[in-house]
Amino acid sequence: MKSRTPFVGGNWKMNTTLSSGSELVRGVADALARVSQVDVAVFPPFPYLVAIGAILRERHGRVRLGAQDVCQEPDGAFTGEVSVSMLKDCAVRIVLAGHSERRHVIGETDKMVNQKVKAILGAGLDCILCVGETLAQREAGQANQVNERQVRAALTQVPEDQMEHLVVAYEPVWAIGTGHNASPEDAQDAHAKIRLVLEDLYGPRVAQQTRIIYGGSVKSANARAIFDQPDVDGGLIGGASLKVGDFVSIARSAADSANAGD
Ligand code: 13P
Repeated sequence: MKSRTPFVGGNWKMNTTLSSGSELVRGVADALARVSQVDVAVFPPFPYLVAIGAILRERHGRVRLGAQDVCQEPDGAFTGEVSVSMLKDCAVRIVLAGHSERRHVIGETDKMVNQKVKAILGAGLDCILCVGETLAQREAGQANQVNERQVRAALTQVPEDQMEHLVVAYEPVWAIGTGHNASPEDAQDAHAKIRLVLEDLYGPRVAQQTRIIYGGSVKSANARAIFDQPDVDGGLIGGASLKVGDFVSIARSAADSANAGD
């Protein structure tokens, strides 16, 4: 039986309108109001955070409000950026750091990701640290090395007592938005290796408590097989999080997987 409660996040990326996002979150919050044994969060675009947060509050539901990114600096002359205190002000409780689209499209470095992780956790928010190799790195046999480097770099100077607020998301870049998910066995293998890195950094207790979730073309049809792997503790969902039925079904799969282990 898994001792970790699964986590399922809906990363909306740069999608939705105020109206479609509001409708989406109402549907998700209502459908999941009584589904226990899974922690759920949605990550809408910045301009919609306040409105989506208000809808979640109205529903007193279990779905938490997340943000897709944050600036590592506390305030000042950083045009276009958003600080952790602003996110807290908008009732955000959990923030992504190091998503591959930020690393590879925007150019975020390991150092910046580390600064963001420290800013998020230091402000008392939860953090989802995203790591994962590109196709070229995988084909060169470097997948585990890349994941290890990204995990170690991102957690530099992160104290053990903050680790209960951190979730690692393994998102192989070649699986994101491509329709090619990692096989359940490949995901399990990568997650087990990431857990060993956590054990090396923080010892077995933290390594066993930390949730490691999978992201990359998770759909309702493949979610359960992936979530049933012993070291997979849920998922970070992109495309399929934009449809109420698909996202709810994926979150239910995570809860069912946890229940089946009882
Ligand atoms: P897809 O589910 O669209 O592949 O995206 C995964 C992802 O990047 C979640 O953060």
